[in-house]
Amino acid sequence: MERVRRVIASPTLVVVLACAALVMIPQVLSTRFIVGANMGWTTNVNYTVWAQDKHFYLGDWLFFVYDRNQMNVLEVNKTNYDNCNSDHPLHNWTTGAGRDVVPLNVTRHYYFISGKGFCYGGMKVAVLVENPPPPPVAAPVKSGSSRSTFRGKIVIPALSAIAVMWESLIWLW
Ligand SMILES: *[C@@H]1O[C@H](CO)[C@@H](O)[C@H](O)[C@H]1NC(C)=O
Ligand SMILES: *[C@@H]1O[C@H](CO)[C@@H](O)[C@H](O)[C@H]1NC(C)=O
Ligand SMILES: *[C@@H]1O[C@H](CO)[C@@H](O)[C@H](O)[C@H]1NC(C)=O
Ligand SMILES: *[C@@H]1O[C@H](CO)[C@@H](O)[C@H](O)[C@H]1NC(C)=O
Repeated sequence: MERVRRVIASPTLVVVLACAALVMIPQVLSTRFIVGANMGWTTNVNYTVWAQDKHFYLGDWLFFVYDRNQMNVLEVNKTNYDNCNSDHPLHNWTTGAGRDVVPLNVTRHYYFISGKGFCYGGMKVAVLVENPPPPPVAAPVKSGSSRSTFRGKIVIPALSAIAVMWESLIWLW
């Protein structure tokens, strides 16, 4: 009796657990960072301090909230960031609403300043955008190419699903 029940129960359980494993695989959720948090994009905020304890990952966004009548959001290169030179922006993110969203869709350094003289007062922020870390189940993966990240996204979920199935089989045995 006991034996029969197990034979019926275990494959179902395995399937359920495997599905649960697939569903529970850490989703790579994008984060929208409000630059300067509740201070927003303004004067008298040290954005180096704001950024230093954060990780910016591919697919995240920066959200600049500010006084549209005074400030703006210009992406510049490092030299122009250091010098507060707003004459040659790489990208003008200013829409006019005072609420500008910047997609961080390339792994690199991004440099933003406000023009109109505010950069000299510290309205400048630099972020480094990285590939998201592999899920915690992963054995240390050699970091580097985008290919290994891509592979990690496919292989690691599959491996953890197999691991869960294997564990449940042993447990039921
Ligand atoms: C940034 O752009 C300026 C021209 O606006 C150029 O002279 C400078 O070499 C550039 N710096 C970098 C780090 O690319
Ligand atoms: C940036 O774009 C806004 C909106 O199109 C425009 O009003 C502003 O003059 C531009 N600023 C610079 C520095 O190009
Ligand atoms: C990143 O976003 C910018 C602005 O929307 C766009 O011009 C650029 O083509 C995008 N790059 C990639 C690699 O998706
Ligand atoms: C911001 O803080 C950093 C680290 O404490 C400091 O090195 C930097 O000079 C500050 N920047 C400004 C504009 O005060």
